[in-house]
Amino acid sequence: MGLSVDIYSPDLTSLLGALQQCQATPAYLEIFRAAPAALAAVRKQAQSSLLAYHGEGLWLTQPETLDNPSFAQEVCEVAGHLQTLDSAWLNHECATKYIAGYSYGTYLPPLYTESSASVVAENVMLVQDLLDRHCRLKNGASPLVLLELPPLTYFVAGTLTIPTFFRLVTQWAPCGLVLDVGHLWTVFRYSGAWRTSTLAQFVDDFLKQFPMDRIVEIHVAGLAVHESSMAGCSQLLDRGESDVLPAWTDAHAAPIPPVLFEILDRVLSHPRLTGLRGLALEVDTKPIPLIVEEFVRFSARYGSVLAPVKKEVGDTQENGCELLRRASLPDSVKQELAAAYERYARVAAGRSEPEGPEWSLPTACLDEFDTYRSIYLPYEILSWGGQVDAMFPQSCRRLEERGVPLSRFVPFWFRRPRTLSGSYDFFLVKIDRFVEFVLEEAPDLAAMVEQEADELRRAYDHANEPPMQAVGERT
Ligand SMILES: [Fe+2]
Repeated sequence: MGLSVDIYSPDLTSLLGALQQCQATPAYLEIFRAAPAALAAVRKQAQSSLLAYHGEGLWLTQPETLDNPSFAQEVCEVAGHLQTLDSAWLNHECATKYIAGYSYGTYLPPLYTESSASVVAENVMLVQDLLDRHCRLKNGASPLVLLELPPLTYFVAGTLTIPTFFRLVTQWAPCGLVLDVGHLWTVFRYSGAWRTSTLAQFVDDFLKQFPMDRIVEIHVAGLAVHESSMAGCSQLLDRGESDVLPAWTDAHAAPIPPVLFEILDRVLSHPRLTGLRGLALEVDTKPIPLIVEEFVRFSARYGSVLAPVKKEVGDTQENGCELLRRASLPDSVKQELAAAYERYARVAAGRSEPEGPEWSLPTACLDEFDTYRSIYLPYEILSWGGQVDAMFPQSCRRLEERGVPLSRFVPFWFRRPRTLSGSYDFFLVKIDRFVEFVLEEAPDLAAMVEQEADELRRAYDHANEPPMQAVGERT
């Protein structure tokens, strides 16, 4: 049993100290992507403990990824991170924050279609091949790519069920999977399944179709009503709609709701769960006392359950996995998929209506989809990962004086696609986009907004690459 953590939030040294005091030391830590020097410091601090790696920024779902010349370079950087940590796996969300030139702050799930599954499989094969060639762990093996079931944030698009999609991917690619039980709850909620099935029935049906034997890790995190929707939620309660399931989304800082224990019990007792190696609570941004309390509770409840699961792992290793051989996807199909993703980006941003085969949303789910487009996404652009008026106080004041509302920044953001170079970073994208926005709305503020942008970039670089002395102090 482990913890999936961010190095800085909460501070890892303080967290490990608090766990040690309660004699609740995790068997492994899964570390979220961080600067190489910070990862090296954690490796040193952890001594011989097991560390795993949670990647970010490799958009494995996207058809253009394979042709992106900087992709191999980014995977090689990740290989360096994995080697530093000596991580047996690279866990990466099967989701994206960059679609057809449009940038997002939080994950969007892939289009659940057959050609999309095929692209994911091809991209995974490429990453695995690069890791096999460029990353050697201490035991001589190379890390395994794991794809994580992504959360649904109010909606889903595609023509396949989600378990069928993952079954196709695993038939074509030798990857493992991470089943996040909170994400699975969001599938129950936002696929509309909750209106026709009980949670138990939904979970059993889902697991029946899902490639359970490829699950290597399970994640458990919190769920909560998103801060952008707080007002809408109280309106719902005011109308007395108490039979409506809460509009929770994935929330790592929030407590783990009891409903996730119900799901986890069913997952752990599934007979095809034969390759599980770790069960981790995902606790980045969560208060330390809550992490300790939940980890102690989980260890008591599931520590003994995991032992027999572990025993069966050897059998899977001997059998290996059989893949279906297939030719790579024809260019014409890739182009069709690229066009479908372009539509996806426009529909998600509210610039097109959800029409076509991928968008057969149940009528009952349209309200939630509207929440994404009209509340969640504008919040993401204006507030999430950097509040624009706090980042650019002077420029925003001047825009306000001229009667230019900040809300206009949202349609500007999604007006046209933009090619990004280098590693994806939403904060830096936000800085670049806002400078462009001000240059268009008020060109005479160019010097002011450029200066604010430069200060932000410098401070951000400084925060991300602490001097070695400071990193050393953390150990
Ligand atoms: Fe997760």
